[in-house]
Amino acid sequence: MSYGVGYQSEFQNSAVEVLIDEVTLKKKIAEIGAAITRDYAGRVPHLVCVLKGAVVFLSELVRTIDLPVTLDFIAVSSYGDATQTSGEVKIVKDLDASPAGRDVILVEDILDTGLTLNYLLNNIRVREVNSVCVAVLLNKPTRRMVDVEVAYNGFDIPDAFVVGYGLDCAERYRNLPYVAVLKKTNQTWPEGLVTK
Ligand code: IMP
Ligand code: MG
Repeated sequence: MSYGVGYQSEFQNSAVEVLIDEVTLKKKIAEIGAAITRDYAGRVPHLVCVLKGAVVFLSELVRTIDLPVTLDFIAVSSYGDATQTSGEVKIVKDLDASPAGRDVILVEDILDTGLTLNYLLNNIRVREVNSVCVAVLLNKPTRRMVDVEVAYNGFDIPDAFVVGYGLDCAERYRNLPYVAVLKKTNQTWPEGLVTK
């Protein structure tokens, strides 16, 4: 199957413009990891990664937390079309194990309207956890529709569509080692699907 991109470099793709480089990302994530290490000393935080976007952030973050940790994964999809989220969230892959009694840290790639994390927080709170808090890599404060308390925040960014470091546009760009703004382009991915 051809995706029509030939053998060009993906990391120097002209459709994207670097917003936060790899060194800056890693430095900030290490700070978050150090803060979690301090805040959860004597406990075993249970990191719940919101698939798929948060996997890159999670994998970097866990290696900076100097405590025993456990991991679980949850996947959600939101109802509504690509541009308008309805706020209704469906769990498409639930946690493998009950988080009851655990100190849960919800790990998410980006906080946008807040609807997804608001739903997930409420969903996890009622499962008899000892505590639950949120760690996000990116935050678009100007887009918020519901208030979400964030314990660990990476970067506040402007209201632009960003990709890379786990974040996608039609499943592409998750592997970029930096966060980038997606420029308007006629490039197609896969064939027939125009990224705007
Ligand atoms: P919220 O419910 O509006 O906060 O939605 C957050 C979700 O929307 C994230 O988990 C991402 O999957 C997606 N999202 C929001 N903004 C962006 C973006 O700029 N690039 C890629 N995905 C985004
Ligand atoms: Mg996501």
